[in-house]
Amino acid sequence: MCYPIGMVSVPPAAAQRFRRQVLRWFDQHGRKHLPWQKQPSPYRVWISEIMLQQTQVATVIPYYQTFMRHFPSVSALARADEDHVLQLWSGLGYYARARNLHRAAKIIANEYRSCFPREREALIALPGIGRSTAGAISALALHQRAPILDGNVKRVLTRFHAIAGWPGEKQIEHGLWALAEQYTPHKHVAAYTQAMMDLGATVCTRSKPNCAYCPLRGQCQAYAQQTQAHYPSSKPKKTLPTKKVNMLLLLNNETVLLEKRPPSGIWGGLWSFPECPDLAALPAWCKQQFGYTLSHQQTWPVLRHTFSHFHLVITPIVCHVTRVNNRHMLKDASQHRWCSLDDVHNRGLASPIKRLLTELQRQSTPLPA
Ligand code: ADE
Repeated sequence: MCYPIGMVSVPPAAAQRFRRQVLRWFDQHGRKHLPWQKQPSPYRVWISEIMLQQTQVATVIPYYQTFMRHFPSVSALARADEDHVLQLWSGLGYYARARNLHRAAKIIANEYRSCFPREREALIALPGIGRSTAGAISALALHQRAPILDGNVKRVLTRFHAIAGWPGEKQIEHGLWALAEQYTPHKHVAAYTQAMMDLGATVCTRSKPNCAYCPLRGQCQAYAQQTQAHYPSSKPKKTLPTKKVNMLLLLNNETVLLEKRPPSGIWGGLWSFPECPDLAALPAWCKQQFGYTLSHQQTWPVLRHTFSHFHLVITPIVCHVTRVNNRHMLKDASQHRWCSLDDVHNRGLASPIKRLLTELQRQSTPLPA
């Protein structure tokens, strides 16, 4: 039986039992020693929550620690160079998250004199902070009663109530928020919030949930019907379009030419390779764009990278160029840089670009005698 999502109202006694079971479970099994749980200020919780979007805890921990060492406060982050922020984000993906963090830090520095805002409306007005992230900051750092509805909580609630329909759909999302709101306690809100995330991440997992260890299984409708795998319903599938690009790996004397991408769009602000629209006209294009003459070129196997909204198929072309003493001919010198292959990883790079640079380094390193 599906839960009628339009009429989700939980009897107070049932909500109370739900909270009690979740909190008791947290006491025994919850995670209490994650790096962002030490002195959980709004700043520290904010950085962790943004990093943890679409990324596992184990992946986030080293990034979080390095980030905090470099930017221990919102004012340190606001003062940073965007390149430095992107460099420390390099490999985590979804780079808009890092650019938004940086923009939001500048707003907090300029408009709030570096004091993190405490009102939920002010938090939600900052770039990259949605209702759930604002809820997590309010609950975990400020002990304010505020619901969250991240992927973990959506999974727990859709199973507990056997709610069919994709949680991204407006009506379903609305109903889930209403449930989250009713379950959120007035007391122990930080522990409850962390508990719901932990329950979703460690017990009520997407595949093979550990229902035997779940404190909620007595009232869980999906468990009763053994239909856990049906929830949450998947997003209706759309076939993604494919975009093809030719990336030029221009080499000269152990240096490679990198190009900074425009500030918005995919990999905004990261370093990448120049892209040639038409390979048939490559030598003329290189001459016209950069003033370089190609000596020889080689095409590498294609690389595929999938974004949320399209597949990118990259054809890498390694080109050796002569006569680069005319560096001044680069149209926009601040957007192009000849980098030594030795320290090329020292900047914000998307993962396919890192892979190509690593392969270039490998091929340029002489084999041991
Ligand atoms: N996922 C999102 N926020 C989290 C947190 N605070 N702890 C563990 N996993 C999370």
